[in-house]
Amino acid sequence: MTKSIGIVILAAGKGTRMKTDAPKALSLCAGKPLLDFVVLAAREFTTECHLKAEIGVVIGHRKELLENWWENHTNKTEIKLAWQREQRGTADALKACFADLPHFGNFDYTLVACADTPLMTSHEFNHLFNVLKNENDLVGVAASFETDQPTGYGRIVHGEFGFKIVEEKDANATERLIKEVNSGFYILKTSHVMSVLNQIDNKNKSGEFYLTDLFQQNYKVRAVKFDSETPFLGINTLEQLAKVDKMVRLKKTRSLMSDGVRFLDPDNCYIDVDVNIGGGTIIYPGCTLLGSTLIEKNVVIESNTFIKNSVIKSGAEILANSYLEGAIVHEEATIGPMARLRPGADIGPEAKIGNFVEVKKSKLSRGAKVSHLSYIGDAEIGENSNIGCGFITCNYDGANKHKTKIGSNTFIGSDCQAVAPIEIGNDAFVAAGSTITKNIPDGGFGIARSMQTTKEGGAKRFLKSKKT
Ligand code: UD1
Ligand code: CA
Repeated sequence: MTKSIGIVILAAGKGTRMKTDAPKALSLCAGKPLLDFVVLAAREFTTECHLKAEIGVVIGHRKELLENWWENHTNKTEIKLAWQREQRGTADALKACFADLPHFGNFDYTLVACADTPLMTSHEFNHLFNVLKNENDLVGVAASFETDQPTGYGRIVHGEFGFKIVEEKDANATERLIKEVNSGFYILKTSHVMSVLNQIDNKNKSGEFYLTDLFQQNYKVRAVKFDSETPFLGINTLEQLAKVDKMVRLKKTRSLMSDGVRFLDPDNCYIDVDVNIGGGTIIYPGCTLLGSTLIEKNVVIESNTFIKNSVIKSGAEILANSYLEGAIVHEEATIGPMARLRPGADIGPEAKIGNFVEVKKSKLSRGAKVSHLSYIGDAEIGENSNIGCGFITCNYDGANKHKTKIGSNTFIGSDCQAVAPIEIGNDAFVAAGSTITKNIPDGGFGIARSMQTTKEGGAKRFLKSKKT
């Protein structure tokens, strides 16, 4: 029969040492809340081990922010929240979970995890679970590891059958020398948790209810020692966050390289964990790729480009020093150098956006070209139209935004403005230097500039008049 497991993630703590206002569990690491790394690892583990699972997140400090996180979560239905009213220790946090989510008491197993360890993977959970599952009379396992700097961790003190965990504050001189420490990750038979959780007291130096008291030397429990501390590296300070953030990003670029993405300087790029990049793509040094950005196959991203929450389709090229946010760039289009695509920019296949061009909330069709020094806002530009240097859509009248529509195969000369709302048809032509305020029909020629007067020999006379 399928076994069931309750995954309890402790996230009620304040994270005092972070010195930030928001709950530590929501701090972003490589663009993703710390809490989500543990949720992901736990979900992978329960799928791999064919366990029926539910996730319970214990919240407390600034709980409204975590409720908001839950409200918008893709896996919302698998996640439940429990409220620890006062932060009286890790055992009290688990009690709060069983109080708010009593059905967690019926699961075969209970896994307890901290919310601040983004390097944790399903691999560690699997290993821990297999030890518990394969030894019939064991009631609980804790993940431990050895470290030369055990300060701050609970020490593992082995006994005849089991082991106990002694917190730094409560440890005597000999216990402090112990190098095997508690990672804070446990899997237990729920029946064991139910029978001992209420007996845990707070008679210790911190006056807190310690979850570590679920393990005692006379219980059938085991500390499962892992070779490396890395997966358990917890974040308590902003300095630790910066260090682990870097490790997470490095792991990300390595995995992208193994999928065929070429980085000219992998140590000098900032890629968020949820960014996807297809094989054959080349990333030059100094690029920042953030959020939900999706870059398809065979794309070129030149140096110092910033891309956030955007989609770049196969074969497109983003040339150096461009800035893209909330944009879509279709197949074989070219952007930049030094272009800016703002939210809602939709650049068609084989289209071209050149240097010092800003595009906002505008759709350019296949092969459209805006090559130099332009602002395109709230506009539509049809197939193969060519927009000359220095064109401006005057989309804002000081109160409202208006649309500009330009058809297909239309030519706009250099240094023109279109005062929106306005429509310029297909196969139309606008003469350079025009300020267009009236619609131009299909095939129409628009010119809007004052007539030129040329006076023979006038240059000399003009200068002379100035000198007197
Ligand atoms: C804990 C362990 C310690 C272990 C270390 C590993 C205890 C008593 N000690 O210590 O043996 O080596 O983790 O990192 O468990 N939390 C709540 N409610 C509370 C208190 C804490 O939800 O009332 C949450 C925190 O948000 C955090 C987790 O529990 O996610 C761990 O709490 P923390 O205070 O960081 O425990 P440590 O002192 O690090
Ligand atoms: Ca901690």
